[in-house]
Amino acid sequence: MTIGIGLLGLGTVGAGVAGILATPSGRHPLVAELELRRVAVRDLARPRPVELAAALLTTDPETVVDDPAVDIVVEVMGGLEPARSLILRAIAAGKPVVTANKAVIARYGEEIAAAAAEQGVYVLIEAAVGGGIPIIEPLKQSLGANRIQRVSGIINGTTNYILSRMAAEGAAYADVLADAQRLGYAEADPAADVQGGDAADKIAILAGLAYGGSVPRAAIPTEGIDRLDARDVAYAAQLGYVVKLLAVAQAMPSEPESTQLLDVRVHPTLLPKAHPLAGVNGVNNAILVEGDPVGQVMFYGPGAGAGPTASAVVADILNIAGIRQATGSGAKVPLDPLLAAGSWRACRLVDSAVTTHRNYVRLRTSDEAGVIGKIGTCFGEAGVSIQSIVQFETQSAGDAEIVVITHDVCEANFRQALAAIQALAGVQTVAACLRTLKGAGSLS
Ligand code: NAP
Ligand code: HSE
Repeated sequence: MTIGIGLLGLGTVGAGVAGILATPSGRHPLVAELELRRVAVRDLARPRPVELAAALLTTDPETVVDDPAVDIVVEVMGGLEPARSLILRAIAAGKPVVTANKAVIARYGEEIAAAAAEQGVYVLIEAAVGGGIPIIEPLKQSLGANRIQRVSGIINGTTNYILSRMAAEGAAYADVLADAQRLGYAEADPAADVQGGDAADKIAILAGLAYGGSVPRAAIPTEGIDRLDARDVAYAAQLGYVVKLLAVAQAMPSEPESTQLLDVRVHPTLLPKAHPLAGVNGVNNAILVEGDPVGQVMFYGPGAGAGPTASAVVADILNIAGIRQATGSGAKVPLDPLLAAGSWRACRLVDSAVTTHRNYVRLRTSDEAGVIGKIGTCFGEAGVSIQSIVQFETQSAGDAEIVVITHDVCEANFRQALAAIQALAGVQTVAACLRTLKGAGSLS
């Protein structure tokens, strides 16, 4: 039974998918049953890395969705519109959808899931988070018995590639970003990668699955690596840390049980060099899931790029193809609630002022007697306990750079201390503020 595939997009991911479909030998036998029937692109004249009959290509994506020969719609064009409308159009036509588009799912996932549930079609999104790493299916199915305490990880390949090369080679930020774009890791607008938005989309999706409810994407506190100073990467290394862009979703005590309070955030974070996530380098991603009773489970692998992402897209196509094969071509059957993964409770984000964190602060000060003492007093008066305080040499005579690492402290107290420090006569500026994690083998 051949299954018709309609591809919306033939860029990095779309070409990877077309490449797998064109070479079924040695793969699961169902791959040979998948036939590319229509492909939407923007520019018909653009050279493609895969050979396709010109008649398959169109610049009108609606004709792909509407084509009766297309049984499954694969959206790998990116962007919010027309991607969202095309997904909804496919659902309305009773066609299952596979998408890698985390931007659309993080913002319109609820609307799309409701439409899919009403029509009784699957919308599968394995490629939307973690590239080639299977993480969506494990959260929906294999870890379903757990109360999830925390999902955290490195979930943007571009920024991890940039940070790894900056740390290892002292490479310049702009050069490494250009390499990430050339390699097909970065989004069409790389601001989504470097400003943390892509990781925020992905943690919103992971949290939604882990905690069974839609997470308000726009409310996630997000900081990227675009304002990260190479000096902080170097100081962190001297202090025994590696800087990574971390995304975290943590369950907070909630009343009533039908609502889950969550601390969800994305920011550059200092990890001790022995931490399990500190050794995740290059385009690789890693997601640590902590649950009761499973404990800690870590998922690791390539987080972006044509091959890994296409691997996840085709896995979703195969899931749908397998169901079609088992139930008879196109027959309408009730959705498997685990694969369809609907919401079953409300999720709310915690007020970030009441969360607690370890912090790294770099202060530019005058190099004179008493400055460190006054800084220590400000922290002490705000109830902020200091783990370490170190002075680094600077190029300009008479100035100093002081790096403070705090213990776990309430965000509001920390902000109060910073305001007092900023007002001190010997302090020129609070030059950088980053989060820190303690201890190897633990994320607390
Ligand atoms: P890309 O290389 O920019 O490819 C986008 C494709 O969609 C291109 O073929 C483009 O046509 C086509 N397209 C865009 N808008 C269109 C429109 N209005 N009508 C017709 N065709 C249109 O993007 P990508 O890197 O493959 O990413 C695709 C999606 O996968 C995005 O949602 C991205 O976030 C997600 N994703 C990407 C990766 C990755 O590593 N790249 C990993 C995971 C998820 P032309 O080729 O003619 O311009
Ligand atoms: N731009 C994304 C990244 C692609 O670098 O992780 C994978 O989702």
